[in-house]
Amino acid sequence: MATTGLVALGVIYSGAFDATATKPHESVVAWATHTAFKQSVKLRAASIRPPMGFTRAQIISGLADYDRNCSACHGAPGIGRGPFAAELNPTPPYLLEASRKWNTAQLYWIVSEGVKMTGMPAWGPSRSDDELWNIVAFLEAMPSITPAQYEALRETRDPMATPAASQIPGVMPSAGTRRFPLWLDLISTASLAVALVCALIILQDIVRRPQKMWIMNVVWPLTALFGGVLWLVGYYRWGRRAAKSGGDSAGPPFAVKVGIGASHCGAGCTLGDLIAEWLVFVIPTIALAFGWKTLFAEKTFAVWVLDYLVAFGVGIAFQYFTIKPMRDLSVLGGLWQAVKADAASISAWQVGMYGLMGALQFGVVKPLSGEIAPVNSTEFWFAMQLAMLAGFCTSYPVNWWLIRSGVKEAM
Ligand code: HEC
Repeated sequence: MATTGLVALGVIYSGAFDATATKPHESVVAWATHTAFKQSVKLRAASIRPPMGFTRAQIISGLADYDRNCSACHGAPGIGRGPFAAELNPTPPYLLEASRKWNTAQLYWIVSEGVKMTGMPAWGPSRSDDELWNIVAFLEAMPSITPAQYEALRETRDPMATPAASQIPGVMPSAGTRRFPLWLDLISTASLAVALVCALIILQDIVRRPQKMWIMNVVWPLTALFGGVLWLVGYYRWGRRAAKSGGDSAGPPFAVKVGIGASHCGAGCTLGDLIAEWLVFVIPTIALAFGWKTLFAEKTFAVWVLDYLVAFGVGIAFQYFTIKPMRDLSVLGGLWQAVKADAASISAWQVGMYGLMGALQFGVVKPLSGEIAPVNSTEFWFAMQLAMLAGFCTSYPVNWWLIRSGVKEAM
């Protein structure tokens, strides 16, 4: 470290670094500044919330602003860059690719803050928030605007009244096509798709052969959402109700019964989690009530508090519908027995689940892409699948003990 610092100081003071603009940056310098730029944008843009979409009017006012202030450096559909652009170092790029490289929030951040050590100015200080979003709207729409449309719109005083305006569709904010590496996108999507198919297979089978206990009709398809093929096989091997009743006096081996007990609890957590995560995604202010910005700087942790409560509630409900008919209890008696039977199991599940979810989000996803996976990404739910499997592992021994000691019924 110290040596690196000395070498760097040496380069700076000796004048060995060529600061003229006529030569391109040495590849190491170019790599270092560009990587620093990319990472800094990802990090800082993560907290910006883009609007739900952009209207044609926004795109067209963005176009006018862009035409006046940006096209000389960046060009536009059918229009080359100004004569001095080629002399800038680095050369300002054409921006047709920009909306594929950066997501909406990141584009906003770049336009607003500019890029240090390049010719790219910060436009935020001279513009309102709305004006900045208009430019972003145009950047996102630019790839689909033809040179003829661009020409027609920039030429007129009242662009909204020109026929070309009606051909410009509104745009959705881009999620950033490559927020995460492609391989991770593919693995996550595949894993979720397989799980969904497994859940559907179980569902269609269970409709025709309902379980003895109705709550298991819900439990089995839910378990496939995290357990995928393994739980599908488990269902056909041990869960499916025999065609002829009777002859099931022995049931599956004890180890399997424990697995089913743990999965039953996991199904409650899965449903609770789905509800809580999407609820906060749609209504983010809910997270404030659970300690976001007061107890936790990181929103994730506030959502986990809610997750835990909802998962607990759903888990206890599942257990209630199991234990009440089995033991022929009153409502209150059933609830109490359900809490006794499943509280430890749910808590053990959540310890494993949050443990792995945290490790994946902050230890793998964030270092990989500069931000944790948001709820509306496949990466988030893939990580959740793995986390649920970890939850299964931590709650399995607890279920073993609960069922062996008779606190919880074997299913
Ligand atoms: C004086 C020239 C100049 C002007 C004017 C200018 N830019 Fe830039 N811009 C640059 C340069 C140079 C870069 C490249 C920075 C780099 O290499 O990292 C850049 C980069 C960008 C990027 C990131 C591109 C990418 O693919 O990484 C965006 C987006 C952008 N500019 C948008 C705009 C918008 C919008 C305007 C007008 C409001 C504008 N620029 C005006 C010079 C300019």
